[in-house]
Amino acid sequence: MIELEENTSLEELQRLPFWEKGEILVSSDPAGEGNMNLVLRVKTNRRSVILKQSKPYVRKYPQIAAPINRIEIEKTYYSLIETDKVLKGFSPKVLAYLPESHLLILEDLGLGSDFTFLYGGKNTLDPQILKGLADYLNALHGLQIESFPDNSVMKKLNHEHIFNFPFAVENGFDLDSIQQGLQEISMDYKREKELKEALTKLGDRYLSNGNTLLQGDFYPGSWLNVAGGLKIIDPEFGFLGDKEFDLGVLFAHFSLAHQHENLRKEFLKEYKHPFSAELLDQYQGVEILRRLIGIAQLPVSLSLSQKKSLLEKARNLVLRN
Ligand SMILES: Nc1ncnc2c1ncn2[C@@H]1O[C@H](COP(=O)(O)OP(=O)(O)OP(=O)(O)O)[C@@H](O)[C@H]1O
Ligand SMILES: [Mg+2]
Repeated sequence: MIELEENTSLEELQRLPFWEKGEILVSSDPAGEGNMNLVLRVKTNRRSVILKQSKPYVRKYPQIAAPINRIEIEKTYYSLIETDKVLKGFSPKVLAYLPESHLLILEDLGLGSDFTFLYGGKNTLDPQILKGLADYLNALHGLQIESFPDNSVMKKLNHEHIFNFPFAVENGFDLDSIQQGLQEISMDYKREKELKEALTKLGDRYLSNGNTLLQGDFYPGSWLNVAGGLKIIDPEFGFLGDKEFDLGVLFAHFSLAHQHENLRKEFLKEYKHPFSAELLDQYQGVEILRRLIGIAQLPVSLSLSQKKSLLEKARNLVLRN
C-alpha cells in the first residue's frame, strides 16, 4: 500500500511497482483541478502518465467520507469501454491498476482544459464538440453490459447531494454566502411538499438499478479538450441506470451555462436511443436545482433574478408543469 500526497517525493514514486527498467522520474505535479481524489501528472525520461488514487474520504474535504473502492469503478468502466471503437477514442488508456494502493495509472491525454469555462456564459458550445458528446453517449448507452458494480455507496453519496441536502430546510449551508438573497429564494423549494414528494420518487429511481451503463457525472467538468480532441474522463459515479440521467445532467448544464435552447434539439438530432422525455425533464430539473441551491456549486455567472427564473423552470421540469 502506497499512500500518495501532492508532495510525495520522486524517490518514493519511483518505488511504485510500475515503471519500466531504466525509466527515471523527472517531475510530479497535480494534474488539474479536482476535489475528490489525488490526481498527479508524473513525467519520466520516457513519457508522462496520470496517477489517480482514491482515499476513504473526499480529498479536499477530509471530513466527508467517500468509498475508497470508487477507483475500481473507474478501472472497470474504462476496461469495459475499451472494447468499443468509438468510446476508446474518447478515453485514456488504463496503463495499470494497483488495487492494494487504490491507484489507477492512466495514459496522459495531455495538457488541455475542461469545459467549465462555459459557465461564464460567453461561449457557445462548438458544434463539433456537441457532436462528440452525442457520439459518446450513443456508443455508451448502446453497450450490451453483462454486469457492472452497483456503485451503491457513491450513488448514496450523490443521492444525498442531489435529492436531499439541497432541499433540507435546516441544512446549515448559508446560500447568502454564495449570493445575497439566494437563501430566501431557496426556501420556496425547501418547503414545497409536492416538489419534495416528486424528488423522493425520482431519487429512489436513481438509486435503483437499470440496464444502461452511464457515465454518471456527464457535465463540463468531465469533458476535456486536448490536442487529440474531446475526451471524457472521471467515470467514478458510473452505474447501470436510466440513460435519461446522463441526458438530464447534460441538458441541465446547458441551462446553467446559458446555452441556447436549440442546442438540445441539435443534440437530440444526433442521439439515437429511445428515451422518456418526462424522465429526462425530471433529472434535468433536479440537476439545475441542486447546482443552484446545493453544496456542489459551479462558477456560474447568473444574477439573482436569473437564478430565480431558472429555479422556477427547473421546478416545473421536475413536476412536469
Ligand atoms: N488521463 C488524463 N489525462 C490528462 N489530464 C487528466 C487525466 N485525468 C485527469 N486529468 C486532469 O486532472 C483533473 C482531475 O482529474 P479528475 O477529474 O479525474 O479528478 P477528480 O478528483 O475525480 O475530480 P472531481 O473532484 O471533479 O471529481 C482533470 O480535470 C484533468 O485536468
Ligand atoms: Mg471525480
